[in-house]
Parts: sequence; C-alpha cells; structure tokens
Amino acid sequence: MNILIAYASTEGHTEKVAKHIGTRLSAGDHIVRYHNVRNVSGGLAVSDFDKTIIAGSVHSAQHQSDLELFTFANREQLNKMPTLFVSVSLAAAFPDTREEARGYINAFQKASSWQPSETVLVAGAVKPGNYDWFEKSALLEGDLAGHVNEELAQTREFTDWDALDATVSDFVKK
Ligand SMILES: Cc1cc2nc3c(=O)[nH]c(=O)nc-3n(C[C@H](O)[C@H](O)[C@H](O)COP(=O)(O)O)c2cc1C
Repeated sequence: MNILIAYASTEGHTEKVAKHIGTRLSAGDHIVRYHNVRNVSGGLAVSDFDKTIIAGSVHSAQHQSDLELFTFANREQLNKMPTLFVSVSLAAAFPDTREEARGYINAFQKASSWQPSETVLVAGAVKPGNYDWFEKSALLEGDLAGHVNEELAQTREFTDWDALDATVSDFVKK
C-alpha cells in the first residue's frame, strides 16, 4: 500500500513520531512517502496514495498553520480516502487535560474542512531547558498550567509508542 505521511513539527518531536510510524510501515512492506509541509510539495498529489496520515503538534492551543493550509488545500482528496490524524500535544499526556487535547483536534478539523477517518491523541515531549521566556509562558496557558511545575519541569518524553503502533497498525489493516 502507498501511504503518505504529511507532518509539521516545530521542535522535532512530531517529526520523530512521523519517522517512527513510517519506519514501522516500511518494515511491513508498505511504501511510505514523507512530506514535511514546511517544504515545497514538488508536485506531490494526495490522490496518488491509498491512505494518508497527517501529523502535527500543538503550540499555544493550535496545530501548525502550515499543516492546516496543506490539509485545507487537499481537503477534497483527503475527505474521500482513509486518513488518520495524529495530534501531538502535552494536553494528551494527562487525564485532566485530554478533553482540551480533543478540542484542539476539533478546531483543526473545522478550520481545515477535513473529516479524518480516525484521530489519535499522542502525548508529546517537554524540553524546558530549551524554552525561552515566551515559550514558557505559552505553556502556562489553559489547563496544562497545573502540570508545569511538576511533571513538565524536566525534559521528558510522554509518548506511548506501543499504543501508537497499535493504532497505526489497525489503521492500515482496515
Ligand atoms: C511554546 C510551546 C507552547 C505549547 N503549547 C501547548 C499547548 O497549548 N497545549 C499543549 O497541549 N501542548 C503545548 N505544547 C507542547 C507541545 O505540543 C509538545 O512539546 C510537542 O511534543 C511539540 O511537538 P514538536 O516537537 O513536533 O513541535 C507547547 C510547547 C511549546 C514549546
């Protein structure tokens, strides 16, 4: 099966997630094409693929605007084919903020006029040593603020790779 993985990653974790998914799919005999939406598409046509995975991360309560643009531009094809939306955020990491994480997905779907066949919330990574004052204040927004001084104080990866593998493997089997 030909699978497109289109992604946006501000600090690199979603790129790691996208490459992890792609490596597993390639090992399972699928043909994977990655597309970082920041780069020019070079004639890429979504209609050439059997399934598409769109992956992005949340910063200040929104997914990347260039991911939204790519998805909106390709909405007709995407709405006709099997698609999986992988939403990476820290709100996905805690039971009391998962509702907020689902809200980010709903807002993205609305803004891009795209109805993914499946969605998955993926807990991201935190790298406090790398953040400037502005980035730290952005993390203090919303329900996540309650976790900033404890769970989010150290560099840490919250991603459950096994759960992600199970979701992706179900998606490609269908
Ligand atoms: C400046 C900044 C703002 C963020 N804002 C949010 C947010 O509003 N909600 C959330 O759940 N996670 C937020 N995060 C966490 C990111 O979604 C998480 O670190 C993710 O792993 C980043 O993925 P990336 O490396 O692909 O950009 C924020 C992270 C940073 C650095």
